[in-house]
Amino acid sequence: MKILICDGMHSKGLELLRAEDELEVLAPDQPGPEEVRRLAADCDALVVRSRTKVTADLMDAAPRLKVIGRAGTGVDNIDVPAASARGILVMNTPGANAMAAAEHTMALMLALARHVPQATQSLREGRWEKKRFLGTELYQQTLGIIGLGKIGSIVADRALGMKMNVLVYDPHITPETAAILGAEWVPLEELFKRSDFITLHTPLTPKTRNIINRDALALMKKGVRIINCARGGLVDEEALHEALVSGHVAGAALDVFAEEPPKDNPLLSLDNVIFTPHLGASSFQAQENVARAIASQIVDYLKRGIIRNA
Ligand code: NAD
Ligand code: MLT
Repeated sequence: MKILICDGMHSKGLELLRAEDELEVLAPDQPGPEEVRRLAADCDALVVRSRTKVTADLMDAAPRLKVIGRAGTGVDNIDVPAASARGILVMNTPGANAMAAAEHTMALMLALARHVPQATQSLREGRWEKKRFLGTELYQQTLGIIGLGKIGSIVADRALGMKMNVLVYDPHITPETAAILGAEWVPLEELFKRSDFITLHTPLTPKTRNIINRDALALMKKGVRIINCARGGLVDEEALHEALVSGHVAGAALDVFAEEPPKDNPLLSLDNVIFTPHLGASSFQAQENVARAIASQIVDYLKRGIIRNA
């Protein structure tokens, strides 16, 4: 059997796969879509992160494909209905990178509040601009968390540790569950109206696409700050750009973009926006976790017919 690693994999995962008899591992360096298509032609399994888009067309070019493994959480880069229709299993590694993504969210929120990237750049350019970079504390500020799953829950815990007031909106979580964590469950509109910081932690689905849109932004407090370490498609980037230019939104911290890497995205030129290139899961620990998890899940399925998500 053959497995194609499309977007790189931590050595521990590769070791696990290579230790298996009857399994040939192809791990090209950053293959483009054409190379993936060519190599996938006789593969039984594909492993991807967010870079490779697994379309119906790619599946049709890989008639032996039995399983697509996402070394991470979001499966929005995989056409899951198309896979199901072809009898191809899609599996991910829920939770394996949650700590990394939650800590990155906190890093972005603190950096945004205190202008860390802009001040670094200013000092690098020889300036000493203390007045320009007056920031805001997180202490006693209200954080609105949209999506209280594995990542949102860790963010809630860390924010409560910093003595923020935490509001959450998640249609699949009860107010009682939120209260156990120390957070207040509120309807989405109320979260928009009351939050000083808003952070997104939902999957990208037809229901969550553009959950931050013009109407949502209009409900928010002037001076709100927005952090997106989930998926670019959750935010209407044009509406966010307008709100950042008008100053209604004081700042945004973005790890993810509607198009990645972003091309001619006007958000990149705004001073009140900070960015990272989809680094939420990029910790040594998370990459080892997701690699080990997806490798063992795929081996279990291909060799023993056992289906599990880590
Ligand atoms: P999770 O499944 O544990 O939690 C998602 C939560 O969102 C669930 O509690 C769910 O009920 C909630 N939700 C679903 N629809 C909602 C809606 N309409 N409104 C509000 N809440 C809603 O997933 P997770 O591990 O916490 O990850 C969340 C997302 O973060 C992933 O789907 C992925 O897209 C993204 N992610 C990004 C990175 C990164 O590198 N930036 C890393 C890991 C995950
Ligand atoms: C995820 O959904 O797990 C993230 O996008 C992390 C990644 O694979 O980069």
